[in-house]
Formats: sequence, structure tokens, C-alpha cells
Amino acid sequence: MQQLSDAEISAVKDESARAYELDRAHVFHSWSAQELLDPMTVSRAQGSHIVDGQGQSFLDFSSQLVNTNIGHQHPKVVQAIKDQADLLCTISPAHVNAARSEAARLITDRTPAGLDHVFFTNGGADANEHAIRMARLHTGKHKILSRYRSYHGGTETAVNVTGDPRRWSNDRGDSGVVHFFGPFLYRTEFSATTEAEETERALRHLERTIELEGPSTIAAIILESIPGTAGIMLPGSDYMQGVRALCDQYDIIFIADEVMAGFGRSGKWFAFEHFDVVPDIITFAKGVNSGYVPLGGVIMDDAIYGSFAKKPYPGGLTYSGHPLACAAAVATLKAMDEEGMIEHAERIGQEIIGPRLRQIAENSKHVGEVRGVGAFWAIELVWDKESREPLAPYGGGSPEVASVVSSLKEHGVVPFNNYHRLHVVPPINISEEDLETGLGVFEKVLTDLDFSR
Ligand SMILES: Cc1ncc(COP(=O)(O)O)c(C=O)c1O
Repeated sequence: MQQLSDAEISAVKDESARAYELDRAHVFHSWSAQELLDPMTVSRAQGSHIVDGQGQSFLDFSSQLVNTNIGHQHPKVVQAIKDQADLLCTISPAHVNAARSEAARLITDRTPAGLDHVFFTNGGADANEHAIRMARLHTGKHKILSRYRSYHGGTETAVNVTGDPRRWSNDRGDSGVVHFFGPFLYRTEFSATTEAEETERALRHLERTIELEGPSTIAAIILESIPGTAGIMLPGSDYMQGVRALCDQYDIIFIADEVMAGFGRSGKWFAFEHFDVVPDIITFAKGVNSGYVPLGGVIMDDAIYGSFAKKPYPGGLTYSGHPLACAAAVATLKAMDEEGMIEHAERIGQEIIGPRLRQIAENSKHVGEVRGVGAFWAIELVWDKESREPLAPYGGGSPEVASVVSSLKEHGVVPFNNYHRLHVVPPINISEEDLETGLGVFEKVLTDLDFSR
């Protein structure tokens, strides 16, 4: 991004000082102890770069919350939002609107045949809420199965299907959700030593869970096609196809949560495409318009659509299919196509990020495993490679991990951090030059690490 002039830096410092003061006085932040926070101020952003409150530029290797898939301030999307604002800012979901219709067409053009209808929401959590509601109404069953090590959103049902510590204090225990273990060889729950064993045992465990919970009580299995925040653990195709087969066998709806993994993040439009499976319901948000205006949605197959073809669906939102959000989605999806971003993400994963991270893992005492695909990679920080003990406890942080994150920032890179993991999740259209610069910083910081207890 272009260097700010001295006058711009001075303006940024002034506005940011005031913003910070007002934030601390009045803004209540997500998932946080409010008075223990010292949030970073972001004053400007462009492409893969963000500028802090002092006018200093950083490479954004987090894509914020893994949503700015096409980077910040993409000119085509910014222009589309401005044009839509001039034309029509908002309209009730009961009316037809061109931006909404076109967004629905472009989204369903990218889904498998038979998944042709979209219910728009404001984000990912409410998309999952509605997907689950649809599955329950369609099947007449109530229970939902979801995996440990997953995140599905912060609202009531979405947080209950979530399989991470953010659920714990929100869980009343009567949500009708049952959790199971998915495949994750590096931290296997099944004493497996190969991917094949892990897959087979994880499927067996899922089938036993279904049998013992009672197939006649289970409406849906919800899975992130590739679990994101929980650690980017790629399942094998055999696992995902096995889940599909179990759903068919026991008359259970398969919901693929593509909120983080979808819209190019994994180097395909949807991450389930890696596994040659077709879900019954797809939920999405984030990358669909890079989060420039909040948008999410539920794509349902013809059978579920049919359940609400002649009787009303009991759910709705004032902003369902908001024109500004949908115009941003239309421009984003077109830009992704025109600029070959999906292919770019696939290629940088294969040719640059994967090889560089594997090299770092070999040379760093504290990198236990790297894994990922496309622009979607995780780094496991461990005390030592033999014990694989995480460098921060599950659900928490540690001074060691905090020091790694600070060090990356000191060298100009903002990573995504969850517990003991760092995720390399830059915009999917990041330039090779920026990518190399950022990975160089990861290499320097991670190979220099030498913690002991
Ligand atoms: C896989 C997944 N599902 C759902 C959500 C919730 O989306 P939102 O924060 O837009 O409600 C997220 C957010 O990170 C996510 O990663």
C-alpha cells in the first residue's frame, strides 16, 4: 500500500487517539474481559495491508476474522456499494430487489445441482440457526450432532452446536446437541497411527453415536467442511463421504458450514468440493462479500425447499437480502472470477505457503505440525515435537504464544491466533511479493524460537 504522507500520519494519529479513548469509554467487545483489553486501532486498509493508529502499515495475514477474502477496499466492490447506495439503500425482504436476485443467482450458479435456493441472513451464526431450524422442521426430529473442535457462531443454537470452550458458559445442557470427535490424526482420540485408521475409527465412532442417540431423534449433522478456527484439520474424502453415507442411511440432514472455508478460502468455491460430497444444506457468510457489508445465508436442496413450498417457513429477518450487502456480494463474486482468485488461492497454497511452512516446521523446535490448503493454513506451536504439548492450554493463552504474536507484529505481520495455534490466512488474492514478505517474517520469528521450562 502507498506510504502515508507526514500530514496523513498526523491526521491518523489524532483521529485514532480519539477513537481509542471513545472505544475504551463506550464500546463493549466480543468474547472479552472489557477492562483487560488493549485493542489495536486500524485507521486505514488496502489490499493485504492494514494501518494502525500510529500510521504504521502491517501485512494482514488474518484477513481480520478470516473474512476479507479479496483483501481490503477492493475498488470494484467499494464502487458497487456506492452505486447501490445511490440507487436504493434498503428495502423490505418481502419485495423483489435486483441486487438480491442477482446475488442469489451468482451464489447458486456455484453450488451443485439441486441446491438452488438461498435464504439470506446477516452473518454466519444466524445462517446456522436457520439451517438447523429448517432441518428440524423438515425432518420432524430435534437432535443435532456436531463435532468437538468446531465453531458455528455466537447465538443461542449456533453456540450450542459449537465444539469449543466458547460454548461452555452458554450451554444450558438442554439444547438437543450431541458432540462427537472428528478425525484429527495429530491429536488422535482413536489411538490411530495412519490417516486411514483415523478415518475408519472416526466414522465408526460417529455411527455408534448415531445408533446410541437414536437415529429417529437426529435431525442433522452439522460440520465445517474444513474446521477453521478450531485448527484447519482437513478431513479425508473417505471421512466426508462416510458422513454423507451415514446421513443417507439414517435419514439425517447433512449441513456443511462453509462460513469460513467457503468462497475461495480453500482454493475452491466451496471446501466440500475437495471431498466429492454434496450436502443437503450449505451455510455461508464472510467471504461471500469479504464482509464489506454483513451478509450470510442458507442454501437448501430441493427437498428442504419443498417442505416450505406450500406452507410458510416460520422465520425471517428485517435485513434478509439487504441490497448493500447483496450488491457487495455480486461485485465480489464477479471480481473473484475476473481476477482468477480461486485458482490463485489454490496455487499459492500448493506452490508457496505449503512448501514454506513445511520448511519452517522442519527448522523450528516449536512447530509441531503445519497443515492446510489454498490460503487456509494452521501452525501448531508445541513445547516439543515429541510430547506435542500445546504451547498454550486448550481454551487459553500463554506468555510464550503472546510473545510470538508480538514478535510477528513487531516485524510487520498480523497473524490469526487461536490458543496455541497461528493461522496463515491472508486474503486469497494476496500478491506473491506480499506473501513472500510475510512468510519470511514467519520463518525468522518461528525458527528463532527457543522456549524452555
Ligand atoms: C465456521 C463458522 N461458522 C459460523 C461462524 C459465525 O459467523 P458470524 O460471526 O458471522 O456470526 C463463524 C465465525 O467465525 C465460523 O468460522
